[in-house]
Amino acid sequence: MKMKINQRYRFCIAPMMEWTDRHCRYFHRMLTRRALLYSEMITTGAVIHGDRARLLACDPAEQPVALQLGGCDPRALAHCAAIGEGFGFTEINLNVGCPSDRVQEGRFGAYLMAEPALVGDCVAAMKARVHVPVTVKCRIGVDEQDPEEALDALTAAVERAGVDALIVHARKAWLKGLSPRENRDVPPLDYDRVYRLKAAHARLPIVLNGGVASVEAAAEHLEHVDGVMMGRAAYQEPWRLLAVDAQAFGVPAPFSDPKAAAVALIPYIERELARGVRLHAITRHVLGLFRGVPGARAFRRHLATQGVKASANAVTFRDALALIDSGQAAPRTVDTVAA
Ligand SMILES: Cc1cc2nc3c(=O)[nH]c(=O)nc-3n(C[C@H](O)[C@H](O)[C@H](O)COP(=O)(O)O)c2cc1C
Repeated sequence: MKMKINQRYRFCIAPMMEWTDRHCRYFHRMLTRRALLYSEMITTGAVIHGDRARLLACDPAEQPVALQLGGCDPRALAHCAAIGEGFGFTEINLNVGCPSDRVQEGRFGAYLMAEPALVGDCVAAMKARVHVPVTVKCRIGVDEQDPEEALDALTAAVERAGVDALIVHARKAWLKGLSPRENRDVPPLDYDRVYRLKAAHARLPIVLNGGVASVEAAAEHLEHVDGVMMGRAAYQEPWRLLAVDAQAFGVPAPFSDPKAAAVALIPYIERELARGVRLHAITRHVLGLFRGVPGARAFRRHLATQGVKASANAVTFRDALALIDSGQAAPRTVDTVAA
């Protein structure tokens, strides 16, 4: 079924390095059929010189799934976008928000907030090479920039280049003085800035990101913007994702409770283990699934002690699941995300 363009971005799960790898995305897809998933950021250098088969593998069951690229050279980005499309990604996203030292040395990521014309060139070059949507994820500004001007300038440049959607992490990044982690919490959130951007750009899908701690909170933002992107809350408490299809898309959840979703993951685990993947590589993403449910701590402990062994297999996971009290497998509602 072809979705209306604005439906496509309604609920997104953020790109997160070391977290949203292909196992994580497959697991998240069990919890929501409709959310748009994002890969970890992969730099153009890694795509061009690295182990592509490992970096860009994605399972058809993950769709829709976007590849996030890091880079600032239009030709390299266009080349990598085409490679990503070939691997099956159905969107290419450019990172204009990451403030790590590595990114600053390469003058990409959040650094690009100061180079809107170059970002426009990057988008135009990628658009010319791929058939799938090309999107950008940015901040409202960096360092001393005025978020009114900086975000308007970036938006104008990417809109002219034909960008298909803009995802805005609703806070500044400080390139000097704050760690990447602090840059996700310390600069204050400014949701109104993103709402104003949407009001001024009726035809460009705008997705709000940053500090969205529940699916209910996401639904409130959807009154003002086309989509919401959830990061840490989705990863640390994946049970929340079971509410996404009903609340954001008005269709039934794929499973009635987290335990049923976990059981449905077992065939995937068996398949991946047969290919040489370690159990922990998959189950590390599942640890927060039962937060607040009786047995959750024992579940996590079993996976932390037994699940990390080289010999761990699907039975280890089944044993961990048996520790969850099925009668109460729906977690209590928790409104805030653990730090
Ligand atoms: C562990 C981790 C890794 C991240 N890696 C990326 C990344 O590769 N690309 C990116 O654009 N943002 C990255 N982010 C930022 C998130 O995509 C998101 O913008 C940020 O966490 C704010 O959203 P949240 O408050 O819902 O978590 C990362 C965040 C975390 C916690």
